[in-house]
Amino acid sequence: MITRFVCNGQPVEVETPPMTRLLDVLREELRLTGSKEGCGEGECGACTVRIDGVPVMSCLVPVAQVAGCNVQTIEGLAGALVHPVQAAMLEHGGAQCGICTPGLCMSAAALLEENPHPSVEQVRVALAGNLCRCTGYQKVIEAVSHALVDTGE
Ligand code: FES
Ligand code: FES
Repeated sequence: MITRFVCNGQPVEVETPPMTRLLDVLREELRLTGSKEGCGEGECGACTVRIDGVPVMSCLVPVAQVAGCNVQTIEGLAGALVHPVQAAMLEHGGAQCGICTPGLCMSAAALLEENPHPSVEQVRVALAGNLCRCTGYQKVIEAVSHALVDTGE
């Protein structure tokens, strides 16, 4: 089956069985390997991408479900400059092994778009689905809380 969608601003079409996981299509068909597989069961958030702006675990999504949608992966997060959440993760030491980092950045970017100045509690809630084995979360939360998002104000 051919599935057409927009990925990181570019129209794409892939020919796969309709139940193929979006994560596999991204990594194996489109060679976008920034999205990681941790658990493969919807538990860890390492595979988080955004579908029409909403953070979603791509290991749980059949590719047929994204027909006609806008999919954004970590490769599409930065514009001409790194995204503020990526800059903040660098500055605050929010990444260690890095397996969780792309998924965390996608969830954090979605939060910051809706709420450029979240409280620590709001950051915790937004990132609750993204597990990290290395950082103890403190530096990640600091990073996202201090990301300087240009709101145009
Ligand atoms: S790999 Fe998708 S949630 Fe863990
Ligand atoms: S930095 Fe290693 S799992 Fe988060």
